[in-house]
Amino acid sequence: MERIPIGIKDFESMIEGGYPKNRTMLVIGATGSGKTILGLHFINQGCMDGKKCMIIATEEIPEDILAQSRSLGMHLDRYQEKGNLIIERVYEERAGNVKNVLGFGIEKIDDLESNILGLIDRIPEGTEIVLIDNVGVLTLNMSVNEFRAQFDLLIYGLNKRKITSMVIIDISANERTGDTAAYSVSGVIRMSIKENPFTGARERLLDIMKIRNTKIPLEPIRFDITSSGIVFLKK
Ligand SMILES: Nc1ncnc2c1ncn2[C@@H]1O[C@H](COP(=O)(O)OP(=O)(O)O)[C@@H](O)[C@H]1O
Ligand SMILES: [Mg+2]
Repeated sequence: MERIPIGIKDFESMIEGGYPKNRTMLVIGATGSGKTILGLHFINQGCMDGKKCMIIATEEIPEDILAQSRSLGMHLDRYQEKGNLIIERVYEERAGNVKNVLGFGIEKIDDLESNILGLIDRIPEGTEIVLIDNVGVLTLNMSVNEFRAQFDLLIYGLNKRKITSMVIIDISANERTGDTAAYSVSGVIRMSIKENPFTGARERLLDIMKIRNTKIPLEPIRFDITSSGIVFLKK
């Protein structure tokens, strides 16, 4: 199986070189656990490899994403200027939509805020690498069944279009949707901050739950976030 490098060398060497090509990795975690930064590594590596990349952002405006990437020594601005990277402003659109919709009646917000499948239409032809951060925002008014149906179709569509993607979901949305997002994707990573029972210190952990066709480490991996992004710590 062909692999896509993910921008963290220590991580790549643990999973046979990278994420499976043309498949989707799901990242689950609480606020501040490092999900977005993991996604930025993936996108930055794709850009450096000359691939057509896209970020669909529901929580942050592109300026904030670019500023965060700069603080980690990644220069996504350059790739955006060259046209290799597109950052979709779903967040700003949502804010605008709420204003428009208020004129018509509040019930219409549900439709606009629950269109997971529609994300695929935003991705231009020829795009190879996509980060969706955070799909959980679109699940607030959804039943588990509806979420699962839309999410499955999104993943199917991404794979069919030969896009290698990372989809982020915050832990509360993942629980609300019955942990069903994990079923249709090729890989699942969980990120967390936990107290070490022996030292009492809080530490960042990355758990690889599954990656199809790949031998994975079963131990959680401790990591730090530094000025050059995610750094795996020795055991
Ligand atoms: N330049 C940096 N240096 C060190 N730590 C950073 C830097 N930028 C962000 N962080 C850390 O990363 C955390 C946020 O990670 P992020 O990927 O945005 O989390 P999530 O997307 O899961 O909410 C922040 O709480 C902060 O502790
Ligand atoms: Mg985030």
